[in-house]
Amino acid sequence: MRAAFPTSEESDTLLAEAHVAAATFLGARDADEVVFGQNMTTLTFAVSRAIGRTLRAGDEIVVTRLDHDANVAPWLALEEERGAVVHWVEIRPDDCTLDMDSLERALGPRTRVVAVGLASNAVGTVSPVARIVEMAHDVGAWTYVDAVHAAPHLAIDAAALGPTSWFARRTSSRPATSASFTGGASCSTVWPPTRSGRPPASRPASGRRARSRVSRSPGCSDVRLPGVARSGVRRR
Ligand SMILES: Cc1ncc(COP(=O)(O)O)c(C=O)c1O
Repeated sequence: MRAAFPTSEESDTLLAEAHVAAATFLGARDADEVVFGQNMTTLTFAVSRAIGRTLRAGDEIVVTRLDHDANVAPWLALEEERGAVVHWVEIRPDDCTLDMDSLERALGPRTRVVAVGLASNAVGTVSPVARIVEMAHDVGAWTYVDAVHAAPHLAIDAAALGPTSWFARRTSSRPATSASFTGGASCSTVWPPTRSGRPPASRPASGRRARSRVSRSPGCSDVRLPGVARSGVRRR
């Protein structure tokens, strides 16, 4: 795409419109924050590996026992690949909610990522993600939120959670699954592209809520990783 043929231009327009629709659905501020991938699992592996490149051995990642494996396995991979240390948040067996004391204990000065689900596909628990994001931000960590199960049932406002949190969700049911992903409003530092060597096409900044008509291609390609802000997170 991004060629001068009429079909390429039509495809670009369709893709741009899909970005705007997904951004509106997720509450992202800008359509450029949305990236489509084969499915949530694939996107999460791409994100974990990109984050992994910024980790040092001994940096810590927090995952939960309530999460689907798709939001656990990509982070566990960083134990072997990057020497990360993974901490588990336990479940309270009496009501199947996340044990927030266990989360508190899992967080520390070396926590870099907290991977959590908005709603559990196994038992339906809706986790207090806003509070979890706040706790993660307090220790300078990023948050990665799996909203696959929640998105069809709950209104999602990704932008409200700040620039260092991401949501991944499925946009249609199987077998035609795809996932969208938002990196928050102040994406500024772009990870190196992983698949295409071409720089993204330039486009004017979108409006606050990404509802405007789009006539240019999205700035973030769907086969590459989105820009990621480190601003707003206290780093040591
Ligand atoms: C809560 C949850 N997260 C993640 C996934 C994985 O999604 P995908 O099939 O898009 O990789 C599923 C799949 O059922 C799920 O229920």
